[in-house]
Amino acid sequence: MPEPSVPPVPTAPPVFPGGPALFRLDPGVAHLNHGSYGAVPLLVNEAQELLRTEAHADPDAFFNAVPARVAAARRRIAGRLGADPDGIAFIANATEGANLALDAVELAAGDEILVTDHGYGTVVAAAARRASVTTVALDPHLPDEDAVCETVLAGLTPRTKVAVLDHVSSPTARLIAGPRLLAELSARGITTVVDGAHTPGMLAEPIAAGADFWFGNLHKWGYAPSGSALLAVAPAHRSRVRSLSPSWEDERGFPWSVEYRATADYTGWLAAPEGLDLLERLDADKVRAHNSALAAYGAALLARIPGLTPLPYTPGLAMRSLLLPPGTAETQDAARALREELAAEAGIRVLIWPRRGGGGIRVCGQVYNRAEEYERLAELLPAFLKGA
Ligand SMILES: Cc1ncc(COP(=O)(O)O)c(C=O)c1O
Repeated sequence: MPEPSVPPVPTAPPVFPGGPALFRLDPGVAHLNHGSYGAVPLLVNEAQELLRTEAHADPDAFFNAVPARVAAARRRIAGRLGADPDGIAFIANATEGANLALDAVELAAGDEILVTDHGYGTVVAAAARRASVTTVALDPHLPDEDAVCETVLAGLTPRTKVAVLDHVSSPTARLIAGPRLLAELSARGITTVVDGAHTPGMLAEPIAAGADFWFGNLHKWGYAPSGSALLAVAPAHRSRVRSLSPSWEDERGFPWSVEYRATADYTGWLAAPEGLDLLERLDADKVRAHNSALAAYGAALLARIPGLTPLPYTPGLAMRSLLLPPGTAETQDAARALREELAAEAGIRVLIWPRRGGGGIRVCGQVYNRAEEYERLAELLPAFLKGA
């Protein structure tokens, strides 16, 4: 990872051709937080609307065809992401993926699950439902992937049976479950559950090879409708995955049992391939390079604000984080308050994350963003930090 402490401001990338017009975002707001909820392009919304119209025109025909159509959509997604179509299932979101995966791991009394303090709250909660959790603290300043790997391995105990790791972490926006760490854990017989909430669309190879379980949202960086996510399960574990509630497709096993939910709204999943197809049409590598360059530009501008400290980062990602000065976002409430003040008073949406010592700020880049939005954030943020 490059040394983050000397951040010359790179040249801002030009507006992505046609990018802003793909979305219907409020033009009065600088949306620099694609990582939290994503945003759905207009034409993906339209594809979903057509499916809704179809469903309401002849509900019997629509619902009777759902299992086969969902399977066809799954195959399209598998093709786009380089996944085994029988090894992935559509799910609603990353949190559901965590619960399905953790319910499927074999655990005995006294077994422990390792998580890190970068882990997402609902995912960590899914682990805590199953077993006692050991939390490894990852210093956000750890310089590179090897240092992250060593720190996680040092946190294993003789009772650790499962490790739940971010693929890309939410607060610090860095790669955690890299190939080396997954291989080291596997060599020790640890079952790995990887939270890839951010990776579809953001990484060229979004599904962590070598993980026992991986889940990720299609609706963040994959331009899919909200409520579209995937769970990927290694062959050895597939027969243990159970739907969270009984399904008419239970007898067919994974992935059918997990996907079929009676009279749910399937239109998001059915339209999800349109999102990934759009990304390909825009040229996914070009989009990734653009988004990463925007995030780097934003981070470099913020790094010039006294009291902000840039963090080590994984090159190529569309998100970057910096630490905020002491007293700024020490608690969840303080982080939320600053986030909402920035939105209400400056019209800027960013993630502010809590941490003792000051908290952090994360900026994202997406094809609808413009350099001026980061410049506005860098200009206005200091006033919100005063007196923190
Ligand atoms: C790393 C990570 N994991 C899990 C989640 C939860 O995703 P969802 O709300 O879609 O379940 C998020 C949400 O931003 C996340 O950033």
